[in-house]
Amino acid sequence: MTVVRWMMVLMLGGTLVACASSPEPKTLWDRLGGEPAVVVVVDDFIATVAADPVINQRFARTDMPKLKKLLVEQICEATGGGCKYTGRTMRESHRGQKITVAEFNAMGGDMFKTLEKFKVPQREKDELMALLGSMSPEIVGQ
Ligand code: HEM
Repeated sequence: MTVVRWMMVLMLGGTLVACASSPEPKTLWDRLGGEPAVVVVVDDFIATVAADPVINQRFARTDMPKLKKLLVEQICEATGGGCKYTGRTMRESHRGQKITVAEFNAMGGDMFKTLEKFKVPQREKDELMALLGSMSPEIVGQ
């Protein structure tokens, strides 16, 4: 083998080792299981919200199938799934509702219950809850 060939073999080998030792980190969307899993989670979450006496009256006139679709899109976009959220901003859609911290926390509790039910691992549960929690300034007290 010529020196050039040996160099090519070594370079290729190095690249393969580099790829094997530092795989592309998976997005939260992928780790959650992508669209099929998130659709199931959002369905269960909305059913839990609809049965939650602390907040269900808030949704008496809401188009729930549309809300579910928008939530999946929103989670997809925010977790790196590459979707485009087509709904209104959190400030726009909650403006005038005067949502309280207690109501926001009740909804967080409903999501937590759903994630526990589907045995979503701790890390993914923490990341998703933190992501939703970070939206509170746009939702609470508007
Ligand atoms: C992190 C928490 C929350 C997220 C991610 C969220 C997300 C959303 C989204 C995506 C929409 C649809 C926007 C659109 O129509 O374009 C929406 C609407 C709505 N949200 Fe929230 N929401 C949260 C918390 C809450 C809380 C705590 C309440 C009340 C207890 C609430 C009550 C509503 C209601 C009533 C609507 C429908 C508004 C309408 O029909 O005009 N949301 N929310």
